[in-house]
Amino acid sequence: MTSWEIERLRGFIGDAQDGKRFVLQGGDCAETLADCRAEQITNKLKILLQMSLVLVHGLRKPVVRVGRLAGQYAKPRSSAVETRRVDGQEVSLPSYFGDLVNRAEFDAASRRPDPHLMVRGYQHAAMTLNFIRSLLDGGFADVHHPEYWDLSFFADASLPPERRAAYEQVSRSLAEAVEFMEALGEARVDELTRVEFFTSHEALNLHYETSQTRRVPHRAGWFDLTTHLPWIGERTRALDGAHVEYMRGIANPVGVKLGPKTDPAEAVALTEALNPGNERGKLVLITRMGAGNVDAALPGIVRAVTDAGRRVLWVSDPMHGNGMVTAEGVKTRHFDSIADELRKTCAVHRDVGSVLGGVHFELTGEDVTECIGGASGVTEQHLTRNYVSPCDPRLNYQQSLELAFILSDLLRNGGATSA
Ligand code: PEP
Ligand code: CO
Repeated sequence: MTSWEIERLRGFIGDAQDGKRFVLQGGDCAETLADCRAEQITNKLKILLQMSLVLVHGLRKPVVRVGRLAGQYAKPRSSAVETRRVDGQEVSLPSYFGDLVNRAEFDAASRRPDPHLMVRGYQHAAMTLNFIRSLLDGGFADVHHPEYWDLSFFADASLPPERRAAYEQVSRSLAEAVEFMEALGEARVDELTRVEFFTSHEALNLHYETSQTRRVPHRAGWFDLTTHLPWIGERTRALDGAHVEYMRGIANPVGVKLGPKTDPAEAVALTEALNPGNERGKLVLITRMGAGNVDAALPGIVRAVTDAGRRVLWVSDPMHGNGMVTAEGVKTRHFDSIADELRKTCAVHRDVGSVLGGVHFELTGEDVTECIGGASGVTEQHLTRNYVSPCDPRLNYQQSLELAFILSDLLRNGGATSA
């Protein structure tokens, strides 16, 4: 990571606060070291690119792409201990805290925290980033050739024909618009077509973050060079906690997750602690209420922060408040609840007069069966077919693309088309 990229993202977040850009943040709940492979990374970039294309087309504004990648290796857990039945015996071991801390396999050696994993995490993050940079430099994301981003299973029969047609229509019309502007000699076209990617992860493991925090020449302050946009999770955002203390000392833009129990005054206090100068582009508030809690919990928080005159970028994470466990004990999320939280969150911002400037998803470019619902037709019975996530369930490729269309419609005309 370089400080100038971090500052560039800060500028973009400032633009998104003003409603001039939109932030699309997404990726795995937990990246694993084993998944640091070309195909996996490429597929994740492809789905983020495809979604961003749908949003650019619908919103008529540039989209800032931020992956949960190249360092999303540390996971907060509700319980420090996990108990399972092994050979008829109850066995309790430390929970899996992500590949930066320990291993997912359920045995004592795997679950023992291993500091060397931080070095391996660093190496894998660097390899991931290096691969992304060379893909982008090589023209992989060239807007003139959106067909490069088609996933191998794009023609799969499970993508409903009307979705495929809608996406093809969007990508064709954008490619034509780019050609048209170039034909006019429009100077700004370069800025519109250059595709950039930024990285983000939950800055949970402060050993990892602090050891890569540096001063850089010609710039004031300290930069967390592990990522462009670190965020603080819902479980570690205590005002007097170590994570807020660390994050208030860095020059990166920072995110904070806010759940349904957030007291509005606490949200305002967090904005004061993390951005005392009330600077543009510095702070991202990522609300993750749960569809059923949005109406009761969100308006108070948004009003309090707005009335206090605090500058923030409002981002909706419709994933983390909508978890459920099936009768068989499988963790999943329903597509309809995810879409519902987005719909309700948009409505709250419209009512208050604030700007919803971004979204935060857990998704993958693979054809997994982890979330249920959506046109892809994944049901509870399908969940075991291709459930890969070691942590939270992710939207698969079709569900992600479908959600991009729903979101685009919601932001453009309040969801009149998809309602
Ligand atoms: C996450 O983003 O994976 C996560 C654990 O989120 P939250 O802190 O909102 O629960
Ligand atoms: Co998660």
